[in-house]
Amino acid sequence: MRTQVGIVGAGPAGLLLSHLLALRGIESVLVETRSRAYCEARQRAGVLEDRSVRLLREAGLAERLDREGLEHGGIYLQFAGQRHHIDFRALTGGRTVTVYAQTEVVKDLIAQRLAAGGAIAFEVTDTEVDRLQTDQPVLRYTDADGIRHEITCDVIAGCDGFHGICRLAIPAGLATVRQRDYPYAWLGILADVPPSTDELIYAHHRRGFALHSLRSATVSRLYFQVDRDESIENWPDDRIWHELQRRFELPASGWELNPGPVLDKGITPMRSYVSAPMRYGRLFLAGDAAHIVPPTGAKGLNLAMADVAVLAPALDALLHGDDGLAAGYSARCLKRVWRSTHFSWWMTTMLHRTPGADEMEAELQLSQLRYVVDSRAAATSLAENYTGYPPLSS
Ligand code: FAD
Ligand code: PHB
Repeated sequence: MRTQVGIVGAGPAGLLLSHLLALRGIESVLVETRSRAYCEARQRAGVLEDRSVRLLREAGLAERLDREGLEHGGIYLQFAGQRHHIDFRALTGGRTVTVYAQTEVVKDLIAQRLAAGGAIAFEVTDTEVDRLQTDQPVLRYTDADGIRHEITCDVIAGCDGFHGICRLAIPAGLATVRQRDYPYAWLGILADVPPSTDELIYAHHRRGFALHSLRSATVSRLYFQVDRDESIENWPDDRIWHELQRRFELPASGWELNPGPVLDKGITPMRSYVSAPMRYGRLFLAGDAAHIVPPTGAKGLNLAMADVAVLAPALDALLHGDDGLAAGYSARCLKRVWRSTHFSWWMTTMLHRTPGADEMEAELQLSQLRYVVDSRAAATSLAENYTGYPPLSS
């Protein structure tokens, strides 16, 4: 078998890349270890930067997003018993973010690819990439019926997430890895209850960070900081709601957090990770396969989409004999990746309680938070990073 671009991984990066390539008349084959149902149900991110929304719109993928996505013009920062609004529109000349779950982005992309006759092999095993330093790299996998395939490609795109195989195909001596593991994790729930807030609330609390997000007018998404090795079995639903109520409480305001049935719950570790360069011969990495950020800045999904927006035209040129854009792919993406890595680290360390930390940490965090809400310059910095910086056009 032959294709132009072999894509490993049907997450947002792989699916969007396959669509952007199809718009340019470039054929691809996508292979994915999980089932379609699993990919469509995996609870993850929820916030799209305005440029991610524009990208989906320009690619003809925003029909449901435009109907069901919830545009947000700011967030709340809560600390020391008070809640403060950061007004993105006023601070950034009208920029906003849109709450539209990754599950929905993935559903829209899979439906579009299949309707357009795109090739996606779900439930594959033993994926291998080979001959990456030649102009005929090879993708091998075993399909759901147990049949082994070998596809000769012009290029392979490694969009297989942090635990995938593509990054590992780059010889260790050729990759520079920068990594930080945080000493805490997030416990996240999806709850069948209307959100108790009109904008996301990021809360600093002496018991640890908490985040109130949402999915729709009737479904809430909430997270709170737990120990890194915490087990979900220790958290029955009542205990989760009790902990969330303590972390979001606003004494004497009359505000209350409404509990409801928990539809899904899980624990996510917190990590910053960047592997560079994002290219090895004819293998190009995109999304979590190359970099991970802690979710406090809501950047992971947006970075994955930004990478493939740069990769699609670069591969188009490469397939027409021009290596220029492909040669610059890694450096161009890494600039944005490092900005988001810094912003995500900054939000994370400003809002979380390090286990065993002294009072100095809390005072420094509170001073930084007061500065963000009191200084227009500091608030603008948060707002422009959160809504997406730099703009895709730069
Ligand atoms: P992924 O979505 O990971 O997709 C990679 C795909 O490759 C997967 O479908 C995987 O099954 C497949 N794959 C892996 N190995 C192979 C193989 N060998 N062969 C074939 N296929 C393979 N970001 C936020 O902004 N907010 C959040 O709240 C948030 N929560 C998260 C929770 C978790 C548990 C995780 C892991 C990530 C979370 N993120 C969050 C990050 C965000 O979801 C990711 O940045 C985003 O999914 C990146 O998309 P991707 O396509 O690069 O990778
Ligand atoms: C989410 O809605 O899942 C979400 C929102 C903001 C974040 C992380 C996750 O920073």
